[in-house]
Amino acid sequence: MIIETQDDVTAAVLAEMHRTPDPRTRELLALLVKHLHAFVREAKMTEREFQEAIGYINAIGKKTTPSHNEAMLMAGALGVSNLVCLINNGAKGTRPTQANNLGPFYRADAPRCKDGESIVRSPTPGDALLFKGRVEDLNGKPIGGADVHIWQSSPAGLYENQDPGQAEMNLRGIFTTQADGSFSFRSVKPAGYPVPTDGPTGALLGAQKRHNMRPAHLHFLIHKPGYKTIASQVYDPQDPHLETDSQFGVTKALIGNFVKKGHGYQLEFTFQLEPGEARLPKAPITEKVSA
Ligand SMILES: [Fe+2]
Repeated sequence: MIIETQDDVTAAVLAEMHRTPDPRTRELLALLVKHLHAFVREAKMTEREFQEAIGYINAIGKKTTPSHNEAMLMAGALGVSNLVCLINNGAKGTRPTQANNLGPFYRADAPRCKDGESIVRSPTPGDALLFKGRVEDLNGKPIGGADVHIWQSSPAGLYENQDPGQAEMNLRGIFTTQADGSFSFRSVKPAGYPVPTDGPTGALLGAQKRHNMRPAHLHFLIHKPGYKTIASQVYDPQDPHLETDSQFGVTKALIGNFVKKGHGYQLEFTFQLEPGEARLPKAPITEKVSA
């Protein structure tokens, strides 16, 4: 159609999309156009702001490398990651869930570990941590033979992929649950850490006078055929940034209880899996940063 006034633009774009053969793709793109156009109209976006927005989106792509995923970081900073998680888990968002953001730092192919093994692979500071986990179904029945991928930052605040000083795959491992659903590993108590601010996400946080900290947490990805695969994180209730997570990942269901034991800490946590599709997500990064 020929556009006469600004009122015609949305209809013109939607009219060109009706041949999209896949119904879900057609629905997603139509909704995207409607909401994007509504945003431009409601915000009365200026030409200058539009140019800045385009530069901003291009910068997200340019900042992304095999060892850093800026788009994933931005999605977290805008709350989109956790929103997608919570509408797709816990019986479609109707009850609490242990599912949580995958985050930008999951790597596939971490070493497979024996139950109780340590994931500390190079000298790492911090208090010792013994983690005792359990994986069960919604009726509390144990799930044995589930793969549990684990990753965390060092107490210095960096994941191994960000830090040439740490061994390859330091503080990462894959465990398998026992017949009683249990798994355990040794590590160090995580500390809170800053997300990178040298890209567009940092500019966003700076413009809003927000801090860039994430409260201390451990990451999990639990996978077993017959159950919906979940990413999860368990948070430290003592962390000063628990209520202002720069990635909006903290939920009530994921606050752990770190108990002081001897020279270190012990943390016990139970994950429930719901029936559904077992599918490992694509890893946001594939490489460690080089020295
Ligand atoms: Fe993290």
